[in-house]
Amino acid sequence: MDKNETYKTLLAQVRAMVKDESDPIANMANVAALIQEAFHFWWTGFYRVIGNQLVLGPFQGPVACTRIGFGKGVCGTAWKDKKTIVVEDVEQFPGHIACSSESRSEIVIPLYKGEEVVGVLDIDSERLATFDAIDKEWLEQIAEVVADKIPLRGMEVGH
Ligand code: SME
Repeated sequence: MDKNETYKTLLAQVRAMVKDESDPIANMANVAALIQEAFHFWWTGFYRVIGNQLVLGPFQGPVACTRIGFGKGVCGTAWKDKKTIVVEDVEQFPGHIACSSESRSEIVIPLYKGEEVVGVLDIDSERLATFDAIDKEWLEQIAEVVADKIPLRGMEVGH
């Protein structure tokens, strides 16, 4: 199936899945599973902004780094720069954090509450140059649906 068609179906599934659920972690967990079912990427998951770090959230795939600093790696850079980052070859990205030696390319999409980044969606592929402008466009829409369900004060328990 054409990638656009797969994403179109996926976005509809994501919208339907989160519609009646207010808990952000539950939604992230199911959205990670839906993305994996559709594309079988190496690793798909969320990191949440907690204080000055990204902390691992729901994911599908192998064990991953639990904490990433502001501006560190691809995830921390997407957070700092407030923009999606597409990396065709992780070895060419200065400061890339290798949670898995299998990972070859990556896309990281910030989750926004207004101007503020409250988390990121991170997807890794074991193949080079997996992600392009089409993935970016659709995954940004998926990230927005998830972010819309996050409470205004983000996901900082006790804050
Ligand atoms: N490679 C990421 C770290 C997260 S994992 O790959 C799951 C990065 O450089 O931010």
